[in-house]
Amino acid sequence: MRAYYYKEDDSDMCSPHDSGTPINEEELSRVGVVYYQIDVDSGMDRINDICAERNYKSRDIVRINREEMHELDAKLDVFFTEHFHEDEEIRLILDGCGYFDLRSSDDKWIRILVEKGDLLILPAGIYHRFTTTQDKRIVAMRLFKENPKWIAINRNENPVHNPFRNDYVSQYLS
Ligand code: LAC
Ligand code: NI
Repeated sequence: MRAYYYKEDDSDMCSPHDSGTPINEEELSRVGVVYYQIDVDSGMDRINDICAERNYKSRDIVRINREEMHELDAKLDVFFTEHFHEDEEIRLILDGCGYFDLRSSDDKWIRILVEKGDLLILPAGIYHRFTTTQDKRIVAMRLFKENPKWIAINRNENPVHNPFRNDYVSQYLS
Protein backbone atom coordinates (compact mmCIF):
# COMPACT_ATOMS: atom_id res chain seq x y z
CA MET A 1 0.00 0.00 0.00
CA ARG A 2 1.20 3.47 -0.78
CA ALA A 3 -0.87 6.63 -0.40
CA TYR A 4 -0.28 10.07 -1.80
CA TYR A 5 -2.11 13.15 -2.96
CA TYR A 6 -3.49 12.73 -6.46
CA LYS A 7 -2.17 15.07 -9.14
CA GLU A 8 -4.64 16.17 -11.80
CA ASP A 9 -3.02 15.95 -15.24
CA ASP A 10 -3.86 14.86 -18.75
CA SER A 11 -2.90 11.22 -18.31
CA ASP A 12 -5.64 8.60 -18.08
CA MET A 13 -7.16 7.45 -14.80
CA CYS A 14 -5.03 4.27 -14.70
CA SER A 15 -1.71 6.15 -14.69
CA PRO A 16 -0.23 6.96 -11.27
CA HIS A 17 -1.15 10.66 -10.91
CA ASP A 18 1.49 10.86 -8.20
CA SER A 19 1.94 14.36 -6.80
CA GLY A 20 4.99 13.21 -4.83
CA THR A 21 3.32 14.15 -1.54
CA PRO A 22 2.91 10.98 0.53
CA ILE A 23 0.18 10.32 3.07
CA ASN A 24 0.79 8.11 6.07
CA GLU A 25 -1.48 5.61 7.78
CA GLU A 26 -2.30 8.00 10.59
CA GLU A 27 -3.64 10.55 8.12
CA LEU A 28 -5.70 7.81 6.49
CA SER A 29 -7.11 6.76 9.84
CA ARG A 30 -8.25 10.34 10.43
CA VAL A 31 -10.70 9.98 7.54
CA GLY A 32 -11.78 6.57 8.84
CA VAL A 33 -9.71 4.31 6.60
CA VAL A 34 -8.44 1.07 8.14
CA TYR A 35 -5.55 -0.86 6.66
CA TYR A 36 -4.09 -4.29 7.35
CA GLN A 37 -1.28 -6.14 5.65
CA ILE A 38 -2.13 -9.80 5.23
CA ASP A 39 0.16 -12.64 4.22
CA VAL A 40 -2.30 -14.13 1.75
CA ASP A 41 -0.05 -17.07 0.90
CA SER A 42 -0.01 -18.39 4.44
CA GLY A 43 -3.69 -19.23 4.62
CA MET A 44 -6.88 -17.52 5.64
CA ASP A 45 -6.53 -17.60 9.46
CA ARG A 46 -5.71 -13.93 9.83
CA ILE A 47 -8.48 -12.82 7.53
CA ASN A 48 -10.93 -15.13 9.29
CA ASP A 49 -9.99 -13.52 12.62
CA ILE A 50 -10.55 -10.03 11.23
CA CYS A 51 -13.92 -11.12 9.84
CA ALA A 52 -14.92 -12.46 13.25
CA GLU A 53 -13.75 -9.28 15.02
CA ARG A 54 -15.46 -6.92 12.59
CA ASN A 55 -18.52 -9.03 11.95
CA TYR A 56 -17.99 -9.69 8.24
CA LYS A 57 -20.08 -12.70 7.35
CA SER A 58 -19.67 -13.09 3.60
CA ARG A 59 -17.05 -12.80 0.92
CA ASP A 60 -16.65 -13.24 -2.78
CA ILE A 61 -13.87 -12.81 -5.30
CA VAL A 62 -13.87 -10.36 -8.16
CA ARG A 63 -11.47 -10.77 -11.07
CA ILE A 64 -10.96 -7.69 -13.18
CA ASN A 65 -9.14 -8.22 -16.48
CA ARG A 66 -9.92 -7.96 -20.14
CA GLU A 67 -10.37 -11.71 -20.69
CA GLU A 68 -12.75 -12.37 -17.83
CA MET A 69 -14.70 -9.16 -17.45
CA HIS A 70 -17.31 -8.27 -20.00
CA GLU A 71 -16.99 -4.64 -21.17
CA LEU A 72 -14.05 -3.94 -18.90
CA ASP A 73 -13.58 -0.30 -19.89
CA ALA A 74 -17.24 0.56 -19.34
CA LYS A 75 -17.11 -1.11 -15.91
CA LEU A 76 -13.96 0.79 -14.98
CA ASP A 77 -15.69 4.04 -15.91
CA VAL A 78 -18.50 3.18 -13.49
CA PHE A 79 -16.05 2.27 -10.72
CA PHE A 80 -14.29 5.59 -11.29
CA THR A 81 -17.44 7.63 -10.76
CA GLU A 82 -17.21 9.29 -7.35
CA HIS A 83 -19.63 7.62 -4.92
CA PHE A 84 -20.21 6.43 -1.38
CA HIS A 85 -21.94 3.43 0.18
CA GLU A 86 -24.11 3.01 3.22
CA ASP A 87 -21.76 0.24 4.37
CA GLU A 88 -18.01 -0.25 4.62
CA GLU A 89 -16.18 -1.17 1.41
CA ILE A 90 -13.73 -3.95 2.30
CA ARG A 91 -11.23 -5.29 -0.19
CA LEU A 92 -8.38 -7.77 0.21
CA ILE A 93 -6.10 -7.74 -2.81
CA LEU A 94 -5.09 -11.24 -3.88
CA ASP A 95 -3.24 -10.39 -7.09
CA GLY A 96 -2.50 -7.43 -9.34
CA CYS A 97 -2.75 -3.76 -8.37
CA GLY A 98 -5.33 -1.04 -8.22
CA TYR A 99 -6.02 2.49 -7.09
CA PHE A 100 -8.58 3.59 -4.55
CA ASP A 101 -9.05 7.35 -4.59
CA LEU A 102 -10.79 8.88 -1.60
CA ARG A 103 -11.49 12.36 -0.38
CA SER A 104 -9.29 13.98 2.24
CA SER A 105 -10.90 16.04 4.99
CA ASP A 106 -10.45 19.13 2.82
CA ASP A 107 -11.95 17.37 -0.21
CA LYS A 108 -8.75 16.68 -2.14
CA TRP A 109 -8.17 13.31 -3.77
CA ILE A 110 -5.93 10.87 -1.94
CA ARG A 111 -4.77 7.97 -4.12
CA ILE A 112 -4.00 4.61 -2.53
CA LEU A 113 -2.06 2.07 -4.55
CA VAL A 114 -3.06 -1.39 -3.37
CA GLU A 115 -1.37 -4.68 -4.17
CA LYS A 116 -1.30 -8.28 -3.08
CA GLY A 117 -1.85 -8.65 0.66
CA ASP A 118 -3.41 -5.24 1.22
CA LEU A 119 -6.71 -5.21 3.08
CA LEU A 120 -8.36 -1.83 2.81
CA ILE A 121 -11.51 -0.84 4.65
CA LEU A 122 -13.29 2.33 3.61
CA PRO A 123 -15.88 3.61 6.08
CA ALA A 124 -19.53 3.97 5.13
CA GLY A 125 -20.23 7.42 3.75
CA ILE A 126 -16.75 8.29 2.42
CA TYR A 127 -16.60 9.53 -1.15
CA HIS A 128 -14.29 7.36 -3.25
CA ARG A 129 -13.67 5.79 -6.65
CA PHE A 130 -11.59 2.89 -7.95
CA THR A 131 -9.53 1.95 -10.95
CA THR A 132 -6.80 -0.49 -11.87
CA THR A 133 -3.22 0.31 -12.78
CA GLN A 134 -2.38 0.42 -16.46
CA ASP A 135 -2.25 -3.35 -16.94
CA LYS A 136 -5.92 -3.51 -15.91
CA ARG A 137 -5.60 -6.68 -13.87
CA ILE A 138 -6.58 -7.22 -10.28
CA VAL A 139 -8.06 -10.00 -8.20
CA ALA A 140 -9.72 -8.94 -4.96
CA MET A 141 -11.76 -10.51 -2.21
CA ARG A 142 -14.79 -8.45 -1.29
CA LEU A 143 -15.85 -8.89 2.31
CA PHE A 144 -19.19 -7.82 3.65
CA LYS A 145 -21.66 -8.02 6.46
CA GLU A 146 -24.68 -10.22 6.20
CA ASN A 147 -26.89 -7.80 4.30
CA PRO A 148 -24.57 -5.30 2.68
CA LYS A 149 -25.97 -2.06 1.35
CA TRP A 150 -24.17 -2.35 -1.93
CA ILE A 151 -25.64 0.55 -3.78
CA ALA A 152 -23.25 3.23 -5.00
CA ILE A 153 -24.58 6.70 -4.34
CA ASN A 154 -22.92 9.01 -6.83
CA ARG A 155 -21.78 12.38 -5.64
CA ASN A 156 -23.44 14.29 -8.47
CA GLU A 157 -26.77 12.63 -7.63
CA ASN A 158 -26.43 12.66 -3.88
CA PRO A 159 -29.62 13.47 -2.01
CA VAL A 160 -28.92 16.30 0.40
CA HIS A 161 -29.75 14.26 3.49
CA ASN A 162 -28.38 10.78 3.60
CA PRO A 163 -28.10 9.57 7.19
CA PHE A 164 -25.03 7.43 6.44
CA ARG A 165 -23.21 10.28 4.76
CA ASN A 166 -24.26 12.63 7.57
CA ASP A 167 -22.92 10.16 10.16
CA TYR A 168 -19.62 9.99 8.31
CA VAL A 169 -19.36 13.77 8.13
CA SER A 170 -20.10 14.21 11.81
CA GLN A 171 -17.73 11.44 12.88
CA TYR A 172 -14.75 12.31 10.66
CA LEU A 173 -15.10 15.71 9.06
CA SER A 174 -16.54 17.95 11.76
C1 LAC B 1 -16.94 -0.41 -5.46
C2 LAC B 1 -15.68 0.28 -5.81
C3 LAC B 1 -15.61 0.50 -7.25
O1 LAC B 1 -17.86 0.25 -5.02
O2 LAC B 1 -15.56 1.43 -5.08
O3 LAC B 1 -16.99 -1.63 -5.68
NI1 NI C 1 -17.34 1.86 -3.83
